[in-house]
Amino acid sequence: MINKTTYILTIIALAIFSCSDEHGALKRDIPPSNEHYAEGFQLLENNCFSCHSPNAALENAIAPTMSAMKEHYVMDDASQAQFTRDLISFLNNPSEENARIPGAVKRFGVMPKMSFSDAEIAKIATYIYYSELDQPGWFEKNYQVEKEKFQAQPDASLTPLEIGKNMAMKTKGVLGKNLLEAINTQGTENALAFCSTRAIALTDSVAASLNARIRRVSDKNRNPDNSANDAELSYIAATKLAIAQGDSPKPQLTQIGDKQVGYYPILTNEMCMQCHGQEETEILPNTLTRIHELYPNDLATGYKVDELRGIWVVEMK
Ligand code: HEC
Ligand code: HEC
Repeated sequence: MINKTTYILTIIALAIFSCSDEHGALKRDIPPSNEHYAEGFQLLENNCFSCHSPNAALENAIAPTMSAMKEHYVMDDASQAQFTRDLISFLNNPSEENARIPGAVKRFGVMPKMSFSDAEIAKIATYIYYSELDQPGWFEKNYQVEKEKFQAQPDASLTPLEIGKNMAMKTKGVLGKNLLEAINTQGTENALAFCSTRAIALTDSVAASLNARIRRVSDKNRNPDNSANDAELSYIAATKLAIAQGDSPKPQLTQIGDKQVGYYPILTNEMCMQCHGQEETEILPNTLTRIHELYPNDLATGYKVDELRGIWVVEMK
């Protein structure tokens, strides 16, 4: 495959694109146009590593490791642009038919849907593409280094809307990880008990660590404590309208008293249907019985994929 011309072109490309800053030695050379590299790590650390371990050696994984993912998405000749398109297409619709890793859905279940813009996914793709997280020893060598750099960076360039979104996504990652663990080890029916006793407590503990107040609310809530107030209901109504018109749902920041409050849409995917889908066809009878026992006034069934299930409400000081 490697003929002389490709070889020479590669050398020229490397000379043009080689990265001369301090982390150049750790990873593949980064084209200078890729200022998104560091942001990509931050997004992964915040939103993906909780389920996709960056440490290939980890056992009891609840999702494919990063290196397994990279192996199936970045084949030898895949361009960065192609990989970015593939990642956008999967993250916009995590589903069995879109999955490429053989057996992953069977083993781990379908990935919960997270809301990211194409621009954010492109940054994530940049990091995965150029970093060596598929190489043996990457975790031991580089993870801590990257993490320290990431923690040293102030959030100054982020808007309050973005800071709130990071908080919501971080909470979502923690909840999602625990939910998948419960489903995989105890089955859907018993995972309900996990949601009913742990969902709010887990949300609160992540919020406390982030020095914010975070809630998940809905117009069709399951837990009576998760009902939306008037301001939240009007955001939900507007967002449902936008989705019905084919627009992508947008988060919103509101000033309430001395607090800034961010609203962030929570959309359904396949994974949610076993507990929030059609009662006759998608929710198993035992699961439905359990839902009715735990939540006699449940409103949260009958959903389809890609609908607004509720919103994150993030109150920042
Ligand atoms: C709550 C846990 C969880 C979080 C958080 C999570 N994932 Fe996943 N992901 C999974 C599970 C479970 C699978 C396995 C199902 C599958 O392969 O479709 C998966 C599969 C994938 C796949 C491979 C799908 C395939 O088989 O082709 C990609 C790519 C992926 N995730 C990217 C991401 C990225 C990027 C993030 C962060 C923005 C992320 N995931 C966050 C649980 C998670
Ligand atoms: C194992 C069953 C199960 C699965 C799967 C599940 N949920 Fe839930 N969900 C629940 C239970 C139980 C509650 C009530 C939690 C509580 O009591 O705090 C809940 C509550 C919620 C709430 C808070 C509002 C309310 O209705 O109380 C949102 C939002 C939500 N789920 C979204 C989702 C989304 C999105 C998915 C898929 C990514 C999902 N859920 C998957 C069982 C499930």
